[in-house]
Amino acid sequence: MQNIIKNIKTLKNKRNAVILAHFYQDPDIQDIADFMGDSLTLAQYARKTDADVILFCGVHFMCETAKILNPEKIVILPDLDAGCSLADSANKQEFREWIQSHPNHTVISYINCSADVKAMSDIICTSSNAEKIINSFPKDEKIIFAPDKLLGGYLNRKTGRDMLLWNGTCQVHEIFSEEALAELIIKYPKGKLLAHPECGENILLYAHHIGSTTSIINYVQESQDEVFIIATEPGVIHQMQKQNPEKIFIPLPSNDGCACNECPHMRLNSLEKVMVALERLSPQIHMSEEKRLAALKPLERMLEFS
Ligand code: 13P
Ligand code: SF4
Repeated sequence: MQNIIKNIKTLKNKRNAVILAHFYQDPDIQDIADFMGDSLTLAQYARKTDADVILFCGVHFMCETAKILNPEKIVILPDLDAGCSLADSANKQEFREWIQSHPNHTVISYINCSADVKAMSDIICTSSNAEKIINSFPKDEKIIFAPDKLLGGYLNRKTGRDMLLWNGTCQVHEIFSEEALAELIIKYPKGKLLAHPECGENILLYAHHIGSTTSIINYVQESQDEVFIIATEPGVIHQMQKQNPEKIFIPLPSNDGCACNECPHMRLNSLEKVMVALERLSPQIHMSEEKRLAALKPLERMLEFS
């Protein structure tokens, strides 16, 4: 492994590359990243980097976002199959028909969607800024929200809106076990439940804090508590454990009996694939300029908010 890390460093310099990683990546990838963040901070960083190559350890929609913001840069994803159940739920044609069947609605799309869907949206949001963006519209604005119906439901409850919701879910966050949570609450009565808003309402109603991966990490940093039950992809625990070695983190199990609810897409990336991708400058993300410009507009509108 040390050899691979050394090679990655050499190739990174040779390519003038920067490695961005989401908090759901394997810990060994997190440890070699130049910048880590949630979806919003990764998009912001991707916009300002002066590297020639962005190697994005995340999933396909994140790399597309980096490419939309940086058409002149080479953007590579170590494993091109790293998709996302939310992004995949919104097929281009069906999404177009859905929008057309709801004229006079503002389309707010969660960043976890394809460039095609972004291109058909009025504004993009992430879990960090969704509430603020929704609240920027008048109370009587007709809004459709896609593609996450669980996040959309949470935002409807938080903002008192009645947004129409696309029927997509995150395959990780929708299967957290309420039964396992109830047992953990009994076992650790002082434990704090930190949950991502992509979780179902049955989990969120017990949460002490609901927010993006970055906000969950920040919450732990500022908290005097010792035990935390984590209802999001467990990769996020790596940073929290590094920053707070004395604190205890318990990943909430899923309802399929799995103790560790990892995202199968995020976890496709590996150090070996990072090394090969930097050597070959492949697989790269490409898209037509027409699509990129259409997707850029709602993304820039979001970034102006943040
Ligand atoms: P954030 O890191 O923006 O909270 O997103 C979580 C996620 O599901 C990314 O796929
Ligand atoms: Fe998509 Fe869920 Fe995986 Fe995030 S955790 S990439 S939303 S499937």
